[in-house]
Amino acid sequence: MRTVDLIQRKRDGEELSVEEIALLVNGYTDGSIPDYQVAAFLMAVYNNGMTDREVSAMTDAMIASGESVDLSEIPGLKVDKHSTGGVGDKTSLIAAPIAAAAGVVVPMISGRALGHTGGTLDKLEAIPGFRTNLTIEEFRAQLATHKLAFIGQTDEVAPADGKFYALRDATATVESIPLIASSIMSKKMAVGLDAIVLDVKVGSGAFMKRQVEARKLAQMMVGIGRRLDRRVQALITDMNQPLGYAVGNALEVMEVSQTLQNAGPTDLTRISVELAARMIFLGKMAASLDDARKLAEQKIVDGSGYRKLKEVIQAQGGNPQVLDRFELLPNATGVREITAPRGGYVSAIDAEEVGRAAMMMGAGRTTKEDGIDPAVGIILEVKVGQRVDAGSILCRLYYTSEEHVEEAAETVEDAFRMAATPPDPRELILEVVS
Ligand code: URA
Repeated sequence: MRTVDLIQRKRDGEELSVEEIALLVNGYTDGSIPDYQVAAFLMAVYNNGMTDREVSAMTDAMIASGESVDLSEIPGLKVDKHSTGGVGDKTSLIAAPIAAAAGVVVPMISGRALGHTGGTLDKLEAIPGFRTNLTIEEFRAQLATHKLAFIGQTDEVAPADGKFYALRDATATVESIPLIASSIMSKKMAVGLDAIVLDVKVGSGAFMKRQVEARKLAQMMVGIGRRLDRRVQALITDMNQPLGYAVGNALEVMEVSQTLQNAGPTDLTRISVELAARMIFLGKMAASLDDARKLAEQKIVDGSGYRKLKEVIQAQGGNPQVLDRFELLPNATGVREITAPRGGYVSAIDAEEVGRAAMMMGAGRTTKEDGIDPAVGIILEVKVGQRVDAGSILCRLYYTSEEHVEEAAETVEDAFRMAATPPDPRELILEVVS
């Protein structure tokens, strides 16, 4: 079977067999199928979607591309959390230590920045010395000792996802429901997880712009989990404005620290607590979801979530003091203020535009080979619904090179919409799919 024939059939809307999907995934992973052919295949999937059978085959082939990590020797239920991607979405760095502090074992397999959205691994790597490339042995040992460890797809864990993820980012094929579902679920399933909590983002800053699409994605991932005998709960949450105030890797680590010390933004705290509570409940560390919520809140108030994150930063080679002394994080060299052209209520802050502006300054990748500048980003000074006067600061851009600041400033200016009357309040947590 020639690869070009598979691409052609997918392009023409035909269903590929389990073996054919496996052939493509394996061929790309071992280097025998080149980028350009897989790029064409991804575009065909983007345009035509995948059947349930194809998505399952894609997920299974990506799981089989690496090792299955056996965590059965570590006592306790293993529960992870994953977001489909948003702007300013640093909930993993908050929910995971809270859940671990409550006794859940959290083997966290995270992703990198993709399109205009950020990635947990890039945020962690903003911490000097932090190693996300633990070996499987180190990962297991850390989970046994600290109950929480962060890694990404490696040569050992779902390597196919690492390659597909990077190529999708550079070929405008990120926003595809089957590709997102198989990407997320394959790396989660490669590790011996008992349950997963998913945060499916919907809105301007998410890959899913409409709630029906987000629901479809959530249902697809819950279905994959069920087929593989894992408990999966998905929250559908609003991503029409950035989450919290900080967008950009080191800036987001600072906001994580504040949130874990009970001084974080309301929206970020609310979603993080809800995600942590569901991890705690699925991890059987609380008898009811309400008890789990109380426990999650308590782990913020008593500082144990914060201490857990410090412990894990230290264990993975990073400097835990960065959570208290922000000057130890990479710092920007320039700041540019964006002000309101007129007074009124902030009626929208287009999260995708904010994410794109941060990416232009180096917070994300434009091509799969690009590095990330951990210091750059944007801090919002206002959120939707707030009243501002003409000339007041809407946000600040933090940069290390003048090169793209002008373009980023224009993009971010367009992101803020003003109105004479306050907008209707929006729900933050829209739906639960399980
Ligand atoms: N997160 C992932 O891990 N994969 C995607 O495709 C999107 C978000």
